Amino acid sequence: MRVLVIGSGAREHALCVALQSDPAVTALACAPGNAGTAGIAAPLPVVAADPVAVAALAAEWRADLVVVGPEVPLVAGAADAVRDAGIACFGPSEQAAQLEGSKAFAKHVMTAAGVPTARSWAVGGAAELDTVLDEVAAADGGAPFVVKDDGLAAGKGVLVTPDRDAARAHGRAVLDAGHAVLVEEYLDGPEVSLFALTDGTTVVPLVPAQDHKRRDDGDRGPNTGGMGAYAPLPWAPDGLVDEVLATVLQPTVDEMARRGEPFSGLLYAGLALTSRGVRVVEFNARFGDPETQVVLPLLETPLAGLLHAAATGTLADHPPLRWRDGAAVTVVVAAEGYPERPRTGDPISGADGEGVLHAGTVVGPDGLVRSAGGRVLAVTAVGADLATARQTAYERLAGIRLRGAHWRTDIALAAVEGRITV
Ligand code: AMP
Ligand code: GLY
Repeated sequence: MRVLVIGSGAREHALCVALQSDPAVTALACAPGNAGTAGIAAPLPVVAADPVAVAALAAEWRADLVVVGPEVPLVAGAADAVRDAGIACFGPSEQAAQLEGSKAFAKHVMTAAGVPTARSWAVGGAAELDTVLDEVAAADGGAPFVVKDDGLAAGKGVLVTPDRDAARAHGRAVLDAGHAVLVEEYLDGPEVSLFALTDGTTVVPLVPAQDHKRRDDGDRGPNTGGMGAYAPLPWAPDGLVDEVLATVLQPTVDEMARRGEPFSGLLYAGLALTSRGVRVVEFNARFGDPETQVVLPLLETPLAGLLHAAATGTLADHPPLRWRDGAAVTVVVAAEGYPERPRTGDPISGADGEGVLHAGTVVGPDGLVRSAGGRVLAVTAVGADLATARQTAYERLAGIRLRGAHWRTDIALAAVEGRITV
């Protein structure tokens, strides 16, 4: 099987590593890829956000399966264009990707499907924003405000703050940018990322993982795309995956099918395990980054056949998934200035070390690997348990040099120390 991966992050590098080890894969390419994927998957230039270009490349390269990593091409219709060219594609249609592309759309689907989520208010203008913030403050007495950009914002469109003025300013800025605003009820409790593969009918959950969204240790600082992750979750309640499958994933997939907009590909449920039960924080329409970097190394089942089954409506015939014992941890190395104004163009040493997945990297004309984005590397390790995996990941990280780089030192620490309770 000739497999073409679209994207250029550490998620795509993790996908390439897993696909490369599948004996069914006869050729592997990653477009546009990065300095890390180039070592194992043919680098092919493409504007990933251009569906016509993606489909043309897939046809020219004679791909049997295209795996679309990021949300931007999916929301632009890349999967539709590839399928129209007669090539199997792992990833939802433009319509179905609205589950991620529009938070308001996701709320409609959840309401129709009876999926538990935060109460929310769609806000179209400044006066309405003030009214809604007052209403939320009155209803939730003392809970932080949650103010979101309705559209795609690479994890940076959300502000959670106890400060009404800051909440208002964020909402105003989103409105001024011409986007709709969603104000939400605050959800307490630990967060879980649960991924499921689906062909539009059958839903196969993967192992739960946890992301660390804030920039700084102790969950402080601004929201980011994700600073590190671990899997599985030693503190997860028994039966969590079955419960989420029954109350969230399957009803959502069924509701999308009922609407005539079947969702195939990866459905990512971002969950909060609140004092009142499981609630959906958000859906994504693709593998999460950095969670993919810890989920895929634990999967023993060959990946290409699995993704192909999801892409071709044959997931029901696929054998049950096999998982490795142990745990995985990934720590994101971010560029100076991330997430606000990441500095790029600096040389990186140690980027070819074991477990080092590349995100924003390129090979310069001088042959040096250089930083090219906010999240630069994801340093990953698998171990017999979470403590061992965590220790190895940080040991590997010590071999990396990048001017001004920063990373969290507490990825998976609360879980290792047993400080997470549901
Ligand atoms: P989102 O882009 O919707 O995933 O939001 C990014 C992050 O903001 C989430 O992972 C949460 O940490 C936080 N967040 C989003 N919505 C809520 C909410 N309703 N209550 C509490 N935290 C939230
Ligand atoms: N891990 C957060 C995301 O992929 O959106």
